[in-house]
Amino acid sequence: MPAEVRRSRTQVGIVGAGPAGLLLSHLLARRGIDSVVAELRSREYCEARQRAGVLEQGSVDLLRAAGLGGRLDAEGLEHGGIYLQFGGERQHLDFRELTGRTVTVYAQTEVVKDLIAARLAAAAAIEFEVTGTEVAGLETDRPVLSFTAADGGRHEVTCDVIAGCDGFHGICRAAIPAARQTVSEREYPYAWLGILARVPPSTDELIYAHHRRGFALHSLRSPAVSRLYLQVPPGTDVAAWPDDRVWAELQTRLGRPGWDLKEGPVLEKGVTPMRSYVSEPMRHGRLFLAGDAAHIVPPTGAKGLNLALADVAVLAQALGALLLEGRAGLADAYSDTCLTRVWRSTHFSWWMTTMLHPTPGADAMESRLQLAQLRYVTTSRSAATSLAENYTGYPPLLPGAG
Ligand code: FAD
Ligand code: DHB
Repeated sequence: MPAEVRRSRTQVGIVGAGPAGLLLSHLLARRGIDSVVAELRSREYCEARQRAGVLEQGSVDLLRAAGLGGRLDAEGLEHGGIYLQFGGERQHLDFRELTGRTVTVYAQTEVVKDLIAARLAAAAAIEFEVTGTEVAGLETDRPVLSFTAADGGRHEVTCDVIAGCDGFHGICRAAIPAARQTVSEREYPYAWLGILARVPPSTDELIYAHHRRGFALHSLRSPAVSRLYLQVPPGTDVAAWPDDRVWAELQTRLGRPGWDLKEGPVLEKGVTPMRSYVSEPMRHGRLFLAGDAAHIVPPTGAKGLNLALADVAVLAQALGALLLEGRAGLADAYSDTCLTRVWRSTHFSWWMTTMLHPTPGADAMESRLQLAQLRYVTTSRSAATSLAENYTGYPPLLPGAG
Protein backbone atom coordinates (compact mmCIF):
# COMPACT_ATOMS: atom_id res chain seq x y z
CA MET A 1 0.00 0.00 0.00
CA PRO A 2 1.42 3.45 -0.86
CA ALA A 3 2.53 5.41 2.22
CA GLU A 4 0.26 8.20 3.39
CA VAL A 5 1.07 11.64 2.00
CA ARG A 6 1.60 14.33 4.64
CA ARG A 7 -0.04 17.55 3.47
CA SER A 8 0.93 20.96 4.83
CA ARG A 9 0.84 24.63 3.96
CA THR A 10 3.48 27.35 3.81
CA GLN A 11 3.85 30.72 2.12
CA VAL A 12 7.09 30.04 0.23
CA GLY A 13 8.36 26.59 -0.73
CA ILE A 14 12.13 26.76 -1.25
CA VAL A 15 14.02 24.10 -3.20
CA GLY A 16 17.70 23.95 -2.18
CA ALA A 17 19.65 24.89 0.96
CA GLY A 18 22.62 26.53 -0.74
CA PRO A 19 23.41 30.19 -0.06
CA ALA A 20 20.41 31.37 -2.14
CA GLY A 21 17.75 29.16 -0.53
CA LEU A 22 19.01 29.63 3.02
CA LEU A 23 19.36 33.41 2.80
CA LEU A 24 15.93 33.70 1.18
CA SER A 25 14.35 31.68 4.01
CA HIS A 26 16.14 33.94 6.54
CA LEU A 27 15.15 37.24 4.85
CA LEU A 28 11.53 36.09 4.51
CA ALA A 29 11.37 35.12 8.19
CA ARG A 30 12.56 38.62 9.12
CA ARG A 31 9.49 39.91 7.26
CA GLY A 32 7.21 37.44 9.04
CA ILE A 33 6.83 35.16 6.00
CA ASP A 34 7.13 31.42 6.61
CA SER A 35 8.87 28.96 4.32
CA VAL A 36 9.79 25.29 4.00
CA VAL A 37 13.25 24.43 2.61
CA ALA A 38 13.79 21.03 0.92
CA GLU A 39 17.44 20.02 0.37
CA LEU A 40 18.81 16.96 -1.42
CA ARG A 41 22.03 16.67 0.60
CA SER A 42 22.86 16.32 4.30
CA ARG A 43 23.62 19.33 6.50
CA GLU A 44 27.24 18.15 6.82
CA TYR A 45 27.63 17.93 3.03
CA CYS A 46 26.17 21.44 2.50
CA GLU A 47 28.50 22.87 5.14
CA ALA A 48 31.64 21.22 3.76
CA ARG A 49 31.19 21.78 0.00
CA GLN A 50 34.24 23.82 -1.13
CA ARG A 51 33.29 26.61 -3.47
CA ALA A 52 33.54 30.40 -3.53
CA GLY A 53 35.59 32.59 -1.22
CA VAL A 54 35.17 36.28 -2.00
CA LEU A 55 32.24 38.49 -0.93
CA GLU A 56 31.55 41.82 -2.60
CA GLN A 57 31.07 44.77 -0.25
CA GLY A 58 27.31 44.77 -0.99
CA SER A 59 27.09 41.09 0.00
CA VAL A 60 28.85 41.81 3.30
CA ASP A 61 26.52 44.76 3.94
CA LEU A 62 23.50 42.58 3.14
CA LEU A 63 24.58 39.78 5.49
CA ARG A 64 25.32 42.29 8.26
CA ALA A 65 21.97 44.06 7.84
CA ALA A 66 20.29 40.64 8.05
CA GLY A 67 21.90 40.02 11.46
CA LEU A 68 24.47 37.57 10.07
CA GLY A 69 27.58 39.69 10.57
CA GLY A 70 28.90 38.18 13.81
CA ARG A 71 31.46 35.61 12.66
CA LEU A 72 31.85 37.33 9.27
CA ASP A 73 33.11 40.49 11.00
CA ALA A 74 35.32 38.52 13.40
CA GLU A 75 36.86 36.09 10.87
CA GLY A 76 36.36 37.65 7.41
CA LEU A 77 39.50 39.16 5.88
CA GLU A 78 38.92 42.54 4.24
CA HIS A 79 40.93 42.97 1.02
CA GLY A 80 41.53 46.34 -0.58
CA GLY A 81 42.82 45.10 -3.94
CA ILE A 82 44.32 42.30 -6.06
CA TYR A 83 47.54 41.63 -7.93
CA LEU A 84 47.57 41.01 -11.68
CA GLN A 85 50.66 39.11 -12.82
CA PHE A 86 51.70 38.88 -16.48
CA GLY A 87 54.83 39.00 -18.61
CA GLY A 88 57.02 38.51 -15.52
CA GLU A 89 55.55 41.52 -13.64
CA ARG A 90 53.20 41.68 -10.66
CA GLN A 91 51.06 44.83 -10.54
CA HIS A 92 48.77 45.83 -7.67
CA LEU A 93 45.28 47.27 -8.21
CA ASP A 94 44.18 49.30 -5.18
CA PHE A 95 40.37 49.02 -5.06
CA ARG A 96 40.11 51.10 -1.90
CA GLU A 97 41.95 54.00 -3.50
CA LEU A 98 40.19 53.63 -6.89
CA THR A 99 36.61 53.14 -5.68
CA GLY A 100 36.57 53.50 -1.89
CA ARG A 101 35.29 49.93 -1.77
CA THR A 102 36.68 46.55 -0.69
CA VAL A 103 35.89 42.81 -0.82
CA THR A 104 36.00 40.28 2.02
CA VAL A 105 37.48 36.80 1.96
CA TYR A 106 34.98 34.62 3.84
CA ALA A 107 34.37 31.15 2.44
CA GLN A 108 30.99 29.98 1.14
CA THR A 109 31.24 27.09 3.62
CA GLU A 110 31.20 29.64 6.46
CA VAL A 111 28.30 31.64 4.95
CA VAL A 112 26.31 28.39 4.71
CA LYS A 113 27.21 27.35 8.29
CA ASP A 114 26.11 30.76 9.62
CA LEU A 115 22.84 30.61 7.67
CA ILE A 116 21.97 27.05 8.73
CA ALA A 117 22.74 27.89 12.37
CA ALA A 118 20.54 31.01 12.22
CA ARG A 119 17.65 29.15 10.55
CA LEU A 120 17.76 26.20 12.94
CA ALA A 121 18.00 28.56 15.96
CA ALA A 122 14.75 30.11 14.72
CA ALA A 123 13.19 26.61 14.48
CA ALA A 124 12.86 26.94 10.70
CA ALA A 125 11.65 24.01 8.60
CA ILE A 126 14.68 22.69 6.68
CA GLU A 127 14.39 19.14 5.41
CA PHE A 128 17.82 17.72 4.56
CA GLU A 129 18.40 14.56 2.48
CA VAL A 130 15.09 14.70 0.61
CA THR A 131 14.53 12.72 -2.60
CA GLY A 132 11.98 12.88 -5.39
CA THR A 133 11.57 16.67 -5.27
CA GLU A 134 8.78 17.87 -7.58
CA VAL A 135 7.08 21.20 -8.24
CA ALA A 136 3.59 21.44 -9.75
CA GLY A 137 0.77 23.92 -10.32
CA LEU A 138 3.20 26.69 -11.20
CA GLU A 139 0.62 28.51 -13.29
CA THR A 140 -1.94 28.51 -10.46
CA ASP A 141 -1.89 30.60 -7.28
CA ARG A 142 -1.41 27.44 -5.15
CA PRO A 143 1.74 25.72 -6.45
CA VAL A 144 2.76 22.49 -4.71
CA LEU A 145 6.23 21.40 -3.57
CA SER A 146 6.51 17.63 -3.00
CA PHE A 147 9.39 15.52 -1.70
CA THR A 148 10.19 12.38 0.21
CA ALA A 149 11.79 13.21 3.56
CA ALA A 150 14.80 11.39 5.01
CA ASP A 151 12.43 9.23 7.13
CA GLY A 152 10.67 7.99 3.98
CA GLY A 153 7.49 10.07 4.43
CA ARG A 154 6.08 11.74 1.32
CA HIS A 155 5.24 15.45 1.77
CA GLU A 156 3.04 17.74 -0.28
CA VAL A 157 3.40 21.39 0.69
CA THR A 158 0.88 23.81 -0.76
CA CYS A 159 2.51 27.22 -1.23
CA ASP A 160 1.75 30.75 -2.42
CA VAL A 161 5.05 30.82 -4.28
CA ILE A 162 7.93 28.41 -4.99
CA ALA A 163 11.55 29.58 -5.10
CA GLY A 164 13.86 27.44 -7.23
CA CYS A 165 17.21 27.81 -5.44
CA ASP A 166 18.40 24.32 -6.41
CA GLY A 167 21.56 25.16 -8.31
CA PHE A 168 22.53 24.39 -11.89
CA HIS A 169 21.60 20.68 -11.76
CA GLY A 170 18.30 21.14 -9.89
CA ILE A 171 14.78 20.38 -11.06
CA CYS A 172 13.15 23.81 -11.00
CA ARG A 173 14.56 25.35 -14.17
CA ALA A 174 13.58 22.18 -16.03
CA ALA A 175 9.97 22.65 -14.83
CA ILE A 176 9.65 25.76 -17.03
CA PRO A 177 8.40 24.87 -20.53
CA ALA A 178 11.30 25.15 -23.01
CA ALA A 179 9.20 27.41 -25.24
CA ARG A 180 9.03 29.95 -22.39
CA GLN A 181 12.79 30.05 -21.77
CA THR A 182 15.66 31.70 -23.61
CA VAL A 183 19.03 30.15 -22.84
CA SER A 184 22.40 31.82 -23.56
CA GLU A 185 25.40 29.56 -23.04
CA ARG A 186 29.15 29.46 -23.59
CA GLU A 187 31.54 26.70 -22.57
CA TYR A 188 35.23 27.51 -22.21
CA PRO A 189 37.96 25.18 -23.47
CA TYR A 190 39.52 24.88 -20.00
CA ALA A 191 38.66 24.07 -16.37
CA TRP A 192 40.09 24.95 -12.93
CA LEU A 193 41.85 22.52 -10.65
CA GLY A 194 41.50 23.91 -7.12
CA ILE A 195 43.31 22.94 -3.93
CA LEU A 196 42.79 23.86 -0.32
CA ALA A 197 46.10 23.67 1.57
CA ARG A 198 47.05 23.97 5.21
CA VAL A 199 49.69 26.64 4.70
CA PRO A 200 49.63 30.39 5.47
CA PRO A 201 49.00 32.47 2.32
CA SER A 202 52.21 33.62 0.62
CA THR A 203 50.57 36.91 -0.34
CA ASP A 204 48.63 39.77 1.29
CA GLU A 205 46.16 40.05 -1.64
CA LEU A 206 44.88 37.56 -4.25
CA ILE A 207 47.20 37.02 -7.24
CA TYR A 208 45.63 36.46 -10.68
CA ALA A 209 48.44 35.23 -12.96
CA HIS A 210 48.50 35.08 -16.75
CA HIS A 211 51.16 32.57 -17.81
CA ARG A 212 51.86 30.96 -21.15
CA ARG A 213 51.37 27.51 -19.52
CA GLY A 214 47.95 28.62 -18.25
CA PHE A 215 46.23 30.80 -15.67
CA ALA A 216 46.92 30.44 -11.92
CA LEU A 217 45.25 32.06 -8.90
CA HIS A 218 46.52 32.37 -5.34
CA SER A 219 43.58 32.94 -2.99
CA LEU A 220 43.13 32.17 0.68
CA ARG A 221 40.63 31.13 3.31
CA SER A 222 42.24 32.20 6.59
CA PRO A 223 45.65 33.18 8.00
CA ALA A 224 46.44 29.43 8.10
CA VAL A 225 44.72 28.07 4.97
CA SER A 226 45.39 28.90 1.30
CA ARG A 227 43.22 28.23 -1.76
CA LEU A 228 44.97 27.93 -5.13
CA TYR A 229 43.77 27.24 -8.65
CA LEU A 230 45.36 26.13 -11.95
CA GLN A 231 43.93 26.25 -15.46
CA VAL A 232 43.73 22.66 -16.76
CA PRO A 233 42.10 21.00 -19.79
CA PRO A 234 38.34 20.36 -19.43
CA GLY A 235 37.53 16.89 -18.13
CA THR A 236 40.85 16.64 -16.27
CA ASP A 237 41.00 13.73 -13.82
CA VAL A 238 42.34 14.88 -10.42
CA ALA A 239 44.18 11.55 -10.18
CA ALA A 240 46.53 12.86 -12.90
CA TRP A 241 47.51 15.68 -10.54
CA PRO A 242 49.29 14.33 -7.45
CA ASP A 243 50.17 17.04 -4.92
CA ASP A 244 53.81 17.35 -6.09
CA ARG A 245 52.70 18.05 -9.64
CA VAL A 246 50.18 20.69 -8.49
CA TRP A 247 52.78 22.52 -6.39
CA ALA A 248 55.42 22.35 -9.16
CA GLU A 249 52.99 23.86 -11.67
CA LEU A 250 51.86 26.55 -9.19
CA GLN A 251 55.53 27.42 -8.55
CA THR A 252 56.10 27.77 -12.31
CA ARG A 253 53.05 29.89 -13.03
CA LEU A 254 53.04 32.08 -9.89
CA GLY A 255 56.80 32.19 -9.18
CA ARG A 256 58.86 35.37 -9.34
CA PRO A 257 62.44 36.09 -8.32
CA GLY A 258 62.59 37.12 -4.65
CA TRP A 259 59.12 35.74 -3.84
CA ASP A 260 58.48 32.40 -2.22
CA LEU A 261 55.31 30.31 -2.65
CA LYS A 262 55.01 28.31 0.58
CA GLU A 263 53.78 24.72 0.23
CA GLY A 264 51.77 22.63 2.71
CA PRO A 265 49.50 19.60 3.07
CA VAL A 266 46.67 19.50 0.51
CA LEU A 267 43.31 19.18 2.33
CA GLU A 268 41.03 19.04 -0.72
CA LYS A 269 41.36 18.91 -4.51
CA GLY A 270 38.75 19.21 -7.26
CA VAL A 271 38.11 20.22 -10.88
CA THR A 272 35.49 22.86 -11.80
CA PRO A 273 34.21 23.24 -15.37
CA MET A 274 33.97 26.79 -16.77
CA ARG A 275 30.70 27.93 -18.26
CA SER A 276 28.59 31.06 -18.82
CA TYR A 277 24.85 30.30 -18.77
CA VAL A 278 21.76 32.48 -18.40
CA SER A 279 18.15 31.26 -18.55
CA GLU A 280 15.57 34.03 -18.99
CA PRO A 281 13.13 35.04 -17.66
CA MET A 282 13.87 34.05 -14.06
CA ARG A 283 10.16 33.59 -13.33
CA HIS A 284 7.42 31.32 -14.64
CA GLY A 285 4.00 31.84 -13.05
CA ARG A 286 4.48 31.31 -9.31
CA LEU A 287 7.99 29.84 -9.68
CA PHE A 288 10.92 32.23 -9.14
CA LEU A 289 14.46 31.02 -9.95
CA ALA A 290 17.42 32.42 -7.98
CA GLY A 291 21.19 31.86 -8.03
CA ASP A 292 22.84 29.04 -9.98
CA ALA A 293 19.40 27.60 -10.84
CA ALA A 294 19.08 30.49 -13.33
CA HIS A 295 22.66 31.44 -14.20
CA ILE A 296 26.29 30.31 -14.02
CA VAL A 297 29.43 32.37 -14.54
CA PRO A 298 33.00 31.12 -14.90
CA PRO A 299 34.70 31.60 -11.51
CA THR A 300 37.32 34.21 -12.57
CA GLY A 301 36.25 37.33 -10.67
CA ALA A 302 34.30 35.46 -7.95
CA LYS A 303 30.77 36.49 -8.95
CA GLY A 304 28.67 33.30 -8.59
CA LEU A 305 27.98 33.43 -4.86
CA ASN A 306 27.49 37.20 -4.92
CA LEU A 307 24.89 36.94 -7.69
CA ALA A 308 22.99 34.28 -5.75
CA LEU A 309 22.84 36.55 -2.68
CA ALA A 310 21.81 39.57 -4.79
CA ASP A 311 18.95 37.62 -6.44
CA VAL A 312 17.41 36.62 -3.13
CA ALA A 313 17.73 40.13 -1.68
CA VAL A 314 15.54 41.30 -4.59
CA LEU A 315 13.23 38.29 -4.26
CA ALA A 316 12.65 38.70 -0.52
CA GLN A 317 11.61 42.29 -1.02
CA ALA A 318 9.34 41.38 -3.97
CA LEU A 319 7.68 38.52 -2.07
CA GLY A 320 7.21 40.75 0.97
CA ALA A 321 5.23 43.21 -1.16
CA LEU A 322 3.29 40.42 -2.89
CA LEU A 323 2.41 38.24 0.08
CA LEU A 324 2.01 40.85 2.82
CA GLU A 325 0.49 43.76 0.90
CA GLY A 326 -0.89 42.17 -2.27
CA ARG A 327 1.32 44.41 -4.42
CA ALA A 328 2.62 42.50 -7.47
CA GLY A 329 4.81 45.20 -9.05
CA LEU A 330 8.16 44.12 -7.56
CA ALA A 331 7.45 40.44 -8.24
CA ASP A 332 6.58 41.30 -11.84
CA ALA A 333 9.84 43.25 -12.14
CA TYR A 334 11.92 40.54 -10.34
CA SER A 335 13.37 38.92 -13.44
CA ASP A 336 14.32 42.16 -15.20
CA THR A 337 15.73 43.65 -12.00
CA CYS A 338 17.99 40.63 -11.41
CA LEU A 339 18.98 40.16 -15.04
CA THR A 340 20.53 43.64 -15.22
CA ARG A 341 23.07 42.62 -12.53
CA VAL A 342 23.34 39.05 -13.87
CA TRP A 343 24.35 40.23 -17.35
CA ARG A 344 26.82 42.79 -15.96
CA SER A 345 28.50 40.04 -13.93
CA THR A 346 28.27 37.61 -16.84
CA HIS A 347 30.16 40.09 -19.00
CA PHE A 348 32.76 40.85 -16.31
CA SER A 349 33.41 37.15 -15.61
CA TRP A 350 33.72 36.41 -19.34
CA TRP A 351 36.06 39.39 -19.77
CA MET A 352 38.31 38.45 -16.82
CA THR A 353 38.33 34.82 -17.97
CA THR A 354 39.27 35.55 -21.59
CA MET A 355 41.90 38.13 -20.55
CA LEU A 356 43.68 35.72 -18.21
CA HIS A 357 43.40 32.22 -19.78
CA PRO A 358 45.42 31.22 -22.84
CA THR A 359 43.15 29.24 -25.19
CA PRO A 360 44.82 25.89 -25.96
CA GLY A 361 46.27 26.01 -29.47
CA ALA A 362 45.75 29.76 -29.88
CA ASP A 363 48.26 31.73 -31.95
CA ALA A 364 50.49 34.55 -30.70
CA MET A 365 47.83 37.13 -31.58
CA GLU A 366 45.63 36.10 -28.63
CA SER A 367 48.49 36.32 -26.19
CA ARG A 368 49.54 39.77 -27.44
CA LEU A 369 45.95 41.03 -27.11
CA GLN A 370 45.67 39.63 -23.56
CA LEU A 371 48.96 41.23 -22.53
CA ALA A 372 47.92 44.56 -24.10
CA GLN A 373 44.69 44.48 -22.09
CA LEU A 374 46.50 43.55 -18.86
CA ARG A 375 48.96 46.40 -19.45
CA TYR A 376 46.03 48.78 -20.01
CA VAL A 377 44.13 47.86 -16.83
CA THR A 378 47.30 48.22 -14.76
CA THR A 379 48.40 51.58 -16.22
CA SER A 380 45.21 53.49 -17.06
CA ARG A 381 43.39 54.80 -14.00
CA SER A 382 40.06 54.68 -15.88
CA ALA A 383 40.55 51.05 -16.92
CA ALA A 384 41.74 50.06 -13.43
CA THR A 385 38.73 51.81 -11.89
CA SER A 386 36.38 49.93 -14.20
CA LEU A 387 37.86 46.57 -13.15
CA ALA A 388 37.76 47.60 -9.47
CA GLU A 389 34.15 48.83 -9.72
CA ASN A 390 33.04 45.50 -11.19
CA TYR A 391 35.12 43.33 -8.87
CA THR A 392 33.83 45.04 -5.71
CA GLY A 393 30.25 44.76 -7.05
CA TYR A 394 28.22 46.68 -9.61
CA PRO A 395 25.69 48.15 -9.08
CA PRO A 396 27.26 48.74 -5.65
CA LEU A 397 24.16 48.60 -3.47
CA LEU A 398 21.92 45.58 -3.05
CA PRO A 399 18.25 46.44 -2.69
CA GLY A 400 16.13 45.18 0.16
CA ALA A 401 19.03 44.65 2.57
CA GLY A 402 18.06 42.85 5.73
P1 FAD B 1 24.03 25.95 -4.82
O1 FAD B 1 25.10 26.38 -3.88
O2 FAD B 1 24.40 25.02 -5.93
O3 FAD B 1 22.86 25.32 -3.96
C1 FAD B 1 21.81 24.59 -4.54
C2 FAD B 1 21.32 23.58 -3.54
O4 FAD B 1 20.21 22.89 -4.08
C3 FAD B 1 22.36 22.52 -3.22
O5 FAD B 1 22.55 22.42 -1.83
C4 FAD B 1 21.81 21.25 -3.84
O6 FAD B 1 22.18 20.09 -3.12
C5 FAD B 1 20.32 21.52 -3.78
N1 FAD B 1 19.53 20.74 -4.73
C6 FAD B 1 19.84 20.42 -6.00
N2 FAD B 1 18.86 19.67 -6.55
C7 FAD B 1 17.91 19.52 -5.62
C8 FAD B 1 16.66 18.85 -5.60
N3 FAD B 1 16.23 18.18 -6.66
N4 FAD B 1 15.93 18.89 -4.46
C9 FAD B 1 16.37 19.57 -3.36
N5 FAD B 1 17.55 20.23 -3.35
C10 FAD B 1 18.32 20.21 -4.45
N6 FAD B 1 31.79 30.88 -7.26
C11 FAD B 1 32.70 31.78 -6.98
O7 FAD B 1 32.34 32.96 -6.89
N7 FAD B 1 34.02 31.39 -6.78
C12 FAD B 1 34.41 30.08 -6.83
O8 FAD B 1 35.57 29.77 -6.62
C13 FAD B 1 33.47 29.11 -7.12
N8 FAD B 1 33.78 27.78 -7.19
C14 FAD B 1 32.80 26.87 -7.48
C15 FAD B 1 33.12 25.51 -7.56
C16 FAD B 1 32.13 24.56 -7.88
C17 FAD B 1 32.49 23.08 -7.96
C18 FAD B 1 30.81 24.99 -8.14
C19 FAD B 1 29.72 23.99 -8.51
C20 FAD B 1 30.50 26.34 -8.04
C21 FAD B 1 31.50 27.28 -7.72
N9 FAD B 1 31.21 28.65 -7.61
C22 FAD B 1 32.14 29.56 -7.33
C23 FAD B 1 29.87 29.16 -7.77
C24 FAD B 1 29.19 29.39 -6.43
O9 FAD B 1 29.60 28.45 -5.50
C25 FAD B 1 27.71 29.33 -6.72
O10 FAD B 1 27.39 30.43 -7.57
C26 FAD B 1 26.82 29.34 -5.48
O11 FAD B 1 26.97 28.13 -4.77
C27 FAD B 1 25.35 29.53 -5.88
O12 FAD B 1 24.53 29.32 -4.79
P2 FAD B 1 23.09 28.68 -4.97
O13 FAD B 1 22.50 28.66 -3.62
O14 FAD B 1 22.40 29.37 -6.08
O15 FAD B 1 23.34 27.22 -5.52
C1 DHB C 1 38.28 32.53 -5.30
C2 DHB C 1 37.63 32.09 -6.39
C3 DHB C 1 37.57 32.91 -7.50
O1 DHB C 1 36.92 32.52 -8.58
C4 DHB C 1 38.17 34.14 -7.54
O2 DHB C 1 38.10 34.89 -8.65
C5 DHB C 1 38.78 34.57 -6.43
C6 DHB C 1 38.84 33.76 -5.30
C7 DHB C 1 38.35 31.65 -4.11
O3 DHB C 1 37.81 30.55 -4.15
O4 DHB C 1 38.95 32.05 -3.12
